[in-house]
Amino acid sequence: MKHIFHNGTDESKPTLLLLHGTGGTETDLLPVAGMIDESADILGVRGNISENGMPRFFKRLAEGVFDEEDLITQTKNLEEFLETAANDYGFDRSNMVAIGYSNGANIAGSLLFHFANTLKGAVLLHPMVPRRGIELPDLSGIPVFIGAGTNDPICKPEETTELAEMLQNAGASVELHWENNGHQLTRNEIEKAAQWYAHTVK
Ligand code: MLT
Repeated sequence: MKHIFHNGTDESKPTLLLLHGTGGTETDLLPVAGMIDESADILGVRGNISENGMPRFFKRLAEGVFDEEDLITQTKNLEEFLETAANDYGFDRSNMVAIGYSNGANIAGSLLFHFANTLKGAVLLHPMVPRRGIELPDLSGIPVFIGAGTNDPICKPEETTELAEMLQNAGASVELHWENNGHQLTRNEIEKAAQWYAHTVK
């Protein structure tokens, strides 16, 4: 997968996996990562799917309607890519925290839904429920920050709450932060994610 890797200055820190929103690139979330942990390794990945030229991490049938088969395939592909990247760059695969926005938050959520021990933690910014009707792996002890907008027309508040409950029922420790805003990222929610990270991710 097309990606960037930057070595951090503190080897004890996790590798931050950056997953962009629809139409984004592997560098979009660099400023966000810098606000959350400027001394961590960074792996920014570009989604392999092109929707009219806009990179995404999996196909969709319509706005908000996922191609579930492709979601499963692309989630496996990303998981395999992370193994390869860890070998190539020599970072600790077991110490990875995802930061995903929108479509990137959805594939990060899908990693958590399909693979045990794939992420040590996750910052999901404006995520949706990736899949329903499956049993989640044991996510005990995995901290997840969800940033959401009370007026988000794409990631509706009910769906955000549903996702938080699904993750919690699988054992994850979820912090849900609401902004009185829509789908866009706000500085305040990143600051809240940074505070959560400082207290939660070790
Ligand atoms: C998705 O397709 O993953 C969601 O609708 C969010 C987005 O618009 O990318």
